[in-house]
Amino acid sequence: MDRGRPVDAELPPPDPWRVKVVEPVPFPTRAERQAALRRAGWNLFRLPASKVTVDLLTDSGVSAMSAAQWSGLMRGEEAYAGSASFDRFEAAVREVTGFPEVLPTHQGRGAEKVLFEVLARPGSVVPGNTHFDTTRAHIEHAGALALDLPAPEAGDLASAFPFKGNLDVRALERALSRAGAARAPLVLVTMTNNTAGGHPVSLGNLREVRSACDRFGVPLFLDAARFAENAWLARERDPALRGRTIREIARTYFDLADGCTCSAKKDALVNAGGFLAFRDRALAEKARRVLVLHEGFPTYGGLAARDLEAIAVGLREALDERHLAHRVGQVHRLGEALESAGVPCVRPFGGHAVFVDAGTFLPHLSPFQFPGQALGCALYLEAGVRGVEVGSLMFGAPNGTDSRPRPELLRLAIPRRVYNASHLDYVAHAFRRLAARREAIAGLRILEAGDVLRHFTARLAPLRPADAARVRGDWLSLPPIDPHAANGRHRAARSISRFRLRR
Ligand code: F0G
Repeated sequence: MDRGRPVDAELPPPDPWRVKVVEPVPFPTRAERQAALRRAGWNLFRLPASKVTVDLLTDSGVSAMSAAQWSGLMRGEEAYAGSASFDRFEAAVREVTGFPEVLPTHQGRGAEKVLFEVLARPGSVVPGNTHFDTTRAHIEHAGALALDLPAPEAGDLASAFPFKGNLDVRALERALSRAGAARAPLVLVTMTNNTAGGHPVSLGNLREVRSACDRFGVPLFLDAARFAENAWLARERDPALRGRTIREIARTYFDLADGCTCSAKKDALVNAGGFLAFRDRALAEKARRVLVLHEGFPTYGGLAARDLEAIAVGLREALDERHLAHRVGQVHRLGEALESAGVPCVRPFGGHAVFVDAGTFLPHLSPFQFPGQALGCALYLEAGVRGVEVGSLMFGAPNGTDSRPRPELLRLAIPRRVYNASHLDYVAHAFRRLAARREAIAGLRILEAGDVLRHFTARLAPLRPADAARVRGDWLSLPPIDPHAANGRHRAARSISRFRLRR
């Protein structure tokens, strides 16, 4: 059994793949980066990728596919119905997850759209550890309430608690007893918990969630986008899982659930695709009827047959232990390099990204000055490196006031099998330079933004020094906090102390 160990413990482990096709990296000059950022309205989502040197915006849909996946593409049998590629795809999903009913979708949010259209109603409540932004948007689009119940330990960004992706089971029980089975159509556990730092969910926690669901008669679903990384981190951190293979551990998690949504663009190593899977046949049939409306016939679901082939191969490669050791190792090495450059990061490091604590790194910026976004723009200007803000820009209320306390983070997500150590050293070096002049990093203000998922399209601008002083003054002069205050700004200020790294 290949447990992902180095070939020889005394030799430094080489990357577990070699390069077959290369793609030039863009090196825009500082003047070009400045012009690009201005044109993009200080929104990194609006930057052309051709102006980015190291792109850590996401780990989604940007993996390098393997030779086996590329050859799978040629096997794709393009047929509207009954393609053999679907059979191979279905077999791979069944083998890895154990769910018998498998519906392909064009990506993860396609699966979310179908699932919530089938199960959620206006007035429903969907509890989870922390819903990803598209998941939340789909739940709300169905008229339901997306309830985030992260484990309390997730609030302390610096603690070493190994399973900050866990769901708060006591809070779940309270929510389910208030809502009752009639109003809670499902519980959704996201593994790893992307929004809350890419942390894993422990097997013990999922078992407790399962028994709470059983007590209240509510189905349990997984958002399995990063199921393999979750299994890897779980084995590293839970002595009870030592000696088991990643495949077995992943399957043990799936065995606790009634179904899953999955974006195959993450762990399954493809550039497009996803799926929805169920244990229950009747529910799957209902979902297939909705699938035809939005995605396509149930044997292609919005994908070309060749994509189904690539997922079938990628799902199995995702469980390759040498691949996981390298991948998660890359994330951890980048995190350690940033910390040694004096950059505070969310601890412990997760499976797919390093989350920089921009709120602590830039203490002169209030949440209304979007420290995560400001740091992301500064990093881009410094070195052409692109990350993504996960904070008040992504989650703040559209009218500019905050409604929930939250950390202000910059996520640096590492694409799978794309960058090597030299690229990540380059990123760490850029941060070293930023750390030396962090007080000079200016806050941002929103010029225009939509109501839904505003971070994708908003336009921002740097605050002029006079504006910056005013916004910061507002923040510092906030009155003491009433824990029940309806005024979101008070709560936002509270988030600063609650989530600040304790060092
Ligand atoms: N669930 C999780 C946990 C995700 O991270 C994502 C996407 C989705 C669902 C939606 O999947 O993109 O295939 O529709 N996350 C990407 C990211 C976009 O950058 O973290 P999708």
